[in-house]
Amino acid sequence: MSHQTVLVVDFGGQYTQLIVRRIRELGVFSEMVPWTNARQAILEKRPAAVVLSGGPKSVLGEGAPDLDLDGIAGEIPLLGICYGHQLLAHKLGGSVEPAKDREYGRREFVPAGTGHLANQLSDKQVWMSHGDQVKTAPPGFTITGSTDSCPIAAFEDRVRRVYGVQFHPEVSHTPDGRALLRSFLFDVAGLVGDWSSAAFIEETTQGIRETVGEGRVLCAVSGGVDSSVAAALVTEALGDRVTCVFVDHGLLRKNEAEDVVREFTEHFHPHLVAINARDQFFSALAGVTDPEVKRKTIGSEFVKCFEQHADELQGCDFLMQGTLYPDVIESGSATASKIKTHHNVGGLPDWMRLKVIEPLKWLFKDEVREVGRQLGLPEAMVDREPFPGPGLAVRILGEVTRERVAIVQEADFIFRSELRAAGLHKGIWQSYAALLDVRSVGVMGDERTYQQPIVLRAVQSEDAMTATAVPLPFETLEHVANRIVNEVAGVNRVLYDLTSKPPATIEWE
Ligand code: XMP
Repeated sequence: MSHQTVLVVDFGGQYTQLIVRRIRELGVFSEMVPWTNARQAILEKRPAAVVLSGGPKSVLGEGAPDLDLDGIAGEIPLLGICYGHQLLAHKLGGSVEPAKDREYGRREFVPAGTGHLANQLSDKQVWMSHGDQVKTAPPGFTITGSTDSCPIAAFEDRVRRVYGVQFHPEVSHTPDGRALLRSFLFDVAGLVGDWSSAAFIEETTQGIRETVGEGRVLCAVSGGVDSSVAAALVTEALGDRVTCVFVDHGLLRKNEAEDVVREFTEHFHPHLVAINARDQFFSALAGVTDPEVKRKTIGSEFVKCFEQHADELQGCDFLMQGTLYPDVIESGSATASKIKTHHNVGGLPDWMRLKVIEPLKWLFKDEVREVGRQLGLPEAMVDREPFPGPGLAVRILGEVTRERVAIVQEADFIFRSELRAAGLHKGIWQSYAALLDVRSVGVMGDERTYQQPIVLRAVQSEDAMTATAVPLPFETLEHVANRIVNEVAGVNRVLYDLTSKPPATIEWE
């Protein structure tokens, strides 16, 4: 790609992706690289700047995440954040010591001298989260600020363009952190800000044309934002050498399959091939209860489905998927541990013949929505709540059967329609009903019942990496619960999930 890039080296910090997002919000393309490959990536890609992230380890510990800065410091502008700040000190001739107390939370930053970056903070509140701290700055560095318990909270070497801050400018609890990042990118590193959705569309369509050559692409669409936007991009690039396929695996929400086909053909792509694969998926899932096996089974059934239809789908050579950057990261990089196999990342079998193209794999969800708008997709499509590729299967704990799918569909329909009717759906990232695989005793019409519970979940989130439960009004929840136990056969109890992500995830499996 021709645009300038900032590499963010991930030392395992919880905010690393946020750094990437913040940089992109400032109009600069940014990519995350695990520390284990960072040196090679930096030397090969020669990025316009490098940011060293935070991380949970101590630079003093055995086997601590490391980066050899020889030939990098002084050549490429560097910004170290938290662990990155300590690593700069440790590697460039300063020193780090364990602090007496762990410093966590908001602190008042006291600037010293004429520190370039540190002076960007008009609001002096900064967010700290660290154990170790820098004891002495490396030779050539000036200390540019402190907090009451951290004497070297910022330093800089303007000549070599190396900067370090102990606090986290990427989090919203550092109100002027954005100004600091902006100044690093534009004043220090001299970047031009050439990253925008228009530039992304141009580069990506060009890239698709080069990759696909004279071939054809099979676009698997689910009706969700990601696959719709990805299909629109591929169509923009290749015109009628695209076949859009919608696989109805029987695991969609109530009426959704029909809605997707109608919306898609009306608004966007008139030649949608809809495959009814319900029987195939239900047979493959029979007896499967383990979440990872479920995901892998679904991933492989999808591909089988495409393979089976590939010939009649006019000899497609490529399969497009709407994989996003968080999917790629969450499916496991060298530093992030694997949370779950997103069916469209890790679940593809080795024997697959179609080559995969993933035009959105560098984007976060909000960036995808923006690209969708630019490509002229209808708002209803662009603003749709995210829905997992494996569908209701990951919201049905235990075995997935037609009967259990029907239960979830009904309960989900009631919940979401009530949220809409009460005007509560706006601002909710995702809302859904899940079915648990336990039974509990209840009583209905003087009869004992022994049935399954439904869990309702509604979360707020910015990018699905973290999420919090929505504080829904009790009356709404109570009303929904009453409707579900009365109208959905097989359910005698309704629960509301209050857990945030982390420690939970958004989906139950
Ligand atoms: P979790 O449950 O990991 O979900 O917090 C994060 C976001 O990803 C969606 N999700 C998936 N999307 N294929 C997808 O396309 C999948 O296998 C998958 N699993 C989860 C989930 O709905 C949430 O928005």
